[in-house]
Amino acid sequence: MTDQQERSTTRRAATMDKVVALAKRRGFVFPGSEIYGGLANTWDYGPLGVELKNNIKQLWWKTFVQTRRDMLGLDAGILMHPRVWEASGHVVNFNDPLVDCKTCKARFRADDLVERHLHIADASAKTPDELSALIREANLPCPNCGNRTLTDARQFNMMFQTTIGPVSETGTQVYLRPETAQGIFVQYKNILNSQRVKLPFGIGQIGKAFRNEITPGNFIFRVLELEQMEIEYFVKAAESATAFEEWLTAMRGWIELIGLRPEHIRVREHAKEELSHYSMRTCDFEYLFPGPMGWKELYGLANRTDFDLRSHQEASGEDLTYFEQETKTRFLPHVVEPTFGVERTFLTVLLDAYDEEATTDVNGKAETRTVLRFVPRLAPVKAAVLPLAKKPELTSVAWQLFERLQCEVSPQVDYDEQANIGKRYRRQDEIGTPFCVTVDFDTLEDRAVTIRDRDTMSQVRIPLDDVPAYLSERIR
Ligand code: GLY
Repeated sequence: MTDQQERSTTRRAATMDKVVALAKRRGFVFPGSEIYGGLANTWDYGPLGVELKNNIKQLWWKTFVQTRRDMLGLDAGILMHPRVWEASGHVVNFNDPLVDCKTCKARFRADDLVERHLHIADASAKTPDELSALIREANLPCPNCGNRTLTDARQFNMMFQTTIGPVSETGTQVYLRPETAQGIFVQYKNILNSQRVKLPFGIGQIGKAFRNEITPGNFIFRVLELEQMEIEYFVKAAESATAFEEWLTAMRGWIELIGLRPEHIRVREHAKEELSHYSMRTCDFEYLFPGPMGWKELYGLANRTDFDLRSHQEASGEDLTYFEQETKTRFLPHVVEPTFGVERTFLTVLLDAYDEEATTDVNGKAETRTVLRFVPRLAPVKAAVLPLAKKPELTSVAWQLFERLQCEVSPQVDYDEQANIGKRYRRQDEIGTPFCVTVDFDTLEDRAVTIRDRDTMSQVRIPLDDVPAYLSERIR
């Protein structure tokens, strides 16, 4: 049975509120700039959040870049020549339909208003005119002040701008990149010239992107500063449809690897009117969020054709064609693009890991156990070493074991000697630690420890020397 099958269940304990509260309480995610009253839609990742985020990124990099012979990596800059964004079509096309309230001046995304207040699904597929018509027909009041003074939807560009050099006429206006993809297209020729690669091949990149969005505040679902894990996969035009299908399968494999529940995932094909300006075909992997959010985009897969390379070739004057030795021909490759958001991966992993279980404490009193059932490969703490009591004879053995596990199993091992053992187990359950290793007084005699499994709470006795191998086998 795979991790995913084991975790498949229709029962769902997670709500967004519970997950947001746990994320803050246990140090996964904090509201940004909180001591100054916060800055809307900005979030900071705490000690456990940064570990989980790194685990996601490292697993993605290993899965899609390091272990594939047809993939190469890149780390391009956030700031690029402004002409990149003219050629890519973002200056003209990267817009959101926004609605203003003439009375209170609040600003909303038109598709969000229509989804939330008119209960029409998939409103993001509608044009600004269609959205305006729906809002007008319903005579929708402003959700902020209640006046019926909403404007029609208008397109606003979502790129953040900044200036290189003095902020005056002499400074150069540049954009913070809204997608990592363009760094790959712009460096595609240098990669071809410096590496021995042949079609089909892909370039993967993980990095920050920025989008000046009005967001309805669904925690880290839609943020201004996001991290993307993107692949541009270069193929011959005739092979792009097959590559698209192969990437659909590879993306399903990733979703299984990170332990998302199959019943929370569906694939949705974009209608023609909904396609991005660069795409001939797009499929979204959607995730079923709890509560009113419902199905929303998790990942995207697009067939970008030769749109980007052709646009950059025309705009820059550089020859970006690929020379095929076998046929002695030159052509622009087509591109299939699987794109993954780090924050959405993080959020959905948290939501699907979150569980509550009726149980009893050490005195037999009923209580609810909150547990994050992360797949071990993603857990921010893989194992915790807990001396049963804070006595030097136990803590010295426990500390030695902790140091050994950090070296031989994973640096993501915790040591905790505070509070009673029941409380320490609950804390580790709440942060999703798959294994707790307890050093007790018997350890001094039998040189063995008790290992408790997070999910079943069953315990096994293992010789001290076998603990690294026991954990390694279950964590990797
Ligand atoms: N590169 C595709 C996207 O950012 O959505």
